[in-house]
Amino acid sequence: MLIDGYGREVNYLRISVTERCNFRCQYCMPEKPFSWVPKENLLTFEELFLFVKVAIDGGVTKIRLTGGEPLLREDLDTFIAMIHTYKPDVDLALTTNAFLLSEAAQILKDAGLKRLNISLDSLKADVAAKIAGKDVLGRVLEGIDKALEVGFKVKINMVPLKGINDDEILDIMAYCQERHMKVRFIEYMENTHADQALKGMHGREILDRVKEKYTIKTLGREGASPSFNYLIEETGYEFGLIDPHKHDFCESCNRIRLTAEGYLIPCLYFDEAMSIAESVKKGDIQGAANVLAQVLREKPKENRWSEEEFEQREISKRAFYETGG
Ligand code: GTP
Ligand code: 5AD
Ligand code: SF4
Repeated sequence: MLIDGYGREVNYLRISVTERCNFRCQYCMPEKPFSWVPKENLLTFEELFLFVKVAIDGGVTKIRLTGGEPLLREDLDTFIAMIHTYKPDVDLALTTNAFLLSEAAQILKDAGLKRLNISLDSLKADVAAKIAGKDVLGRVLEGIDKALEVGFKVKINMVPLKGINDDEILDIMAYCQERHMKVRFIEYMENTHADQALKGMHGREILDRVKEKYTIKTLGREGASPSFNYLIEETGYEFGLIDPHKHDFCESCNRIRLTAEGYLIPCLYFDEAMSIAESVKKGDIQGAANVLAQVLREKPKENRWSEEEFEQREISKRAFYETGG
């Protein structure tokens, strides 16, 4: 079992396989970065897999592949199959923007991927284009349909933004309910890479929108999930709210993140990270395990998104497209 310095069990590894993305979401990457990490700095799947084995042997039971956009990385299905073959009961999931999903869904399923979380911020083509920086909606919806058709369990992530898509909360909920997908509304997390004019919605405001039409019952946090769940009494539909600005959000944090360059990151909010690159390139299992142990010891107690003045916070300059959100 992997236990951090505050006694939290860490059993969830998020691996960002590439920082590159085919979207330019305003809350994440409005402009293409000045330069991408050179390809030769990326760890190969064999190198990443060495760490995955260390993590699984230590007690990781859940692995999520993220990006950037993970489907841009070639041969992702091979990496999925490597993990699945090593430990078939690992909860193996992927977070994607779904633009490339309709072609990939069956291949990913066959490789052993179990679940998909998909970003869907609008059901209006012009609004989706405004948020993502290009016309994406048609392909995203096709990708979602295909994922359901091949039998994936799918969750939808939506980031409500004031004056942009905040009028679509109930529409997205209805779309998800029809397709038996859970939607999680995510509070916009301020960061230095986003369009600075954006205004997110507070969790409370998101719930108020839902309450204009429905009665909601609080269900609570599902284990160590970042999502706090609610039930719509009239329809029996369950949805989630991911609210990192809330004080209790970090109490049950069970995850660490690995970037495509090999940085192991204990918390999304802070800059601190340690590299496993040197160890895995040498095939040094003990070295990688030592870095993991140190990162666990130093994992912070909580983020600081809840504090009032964004400008004064020591927020990490690292982008969400590097860490995988
Ligand atoms: P499940 O396995 O389905 O519970 O997925 P998940 O919610 O762990 O994964 P997903 O990639 O869908 O995460 C949704 C979003 O929640 C992320 O993109 C982040 O925006 C946010 N999030 C997840 N974990 C953390 C965290 O540790 N800290 C903060 N601040 N936000 C997080
Ligand atoms: N605030 C909240 N969520 C974000 N994501 C990316 N950037 C942010 C941000 N600034 C989430 C999106 C997407 C996932 C990949 O990361 O919801 O679903
Ligand atoms: Fe790409 Fe995801 Fe960032 Fe959008 S949120 S730019 S899809 S990495």
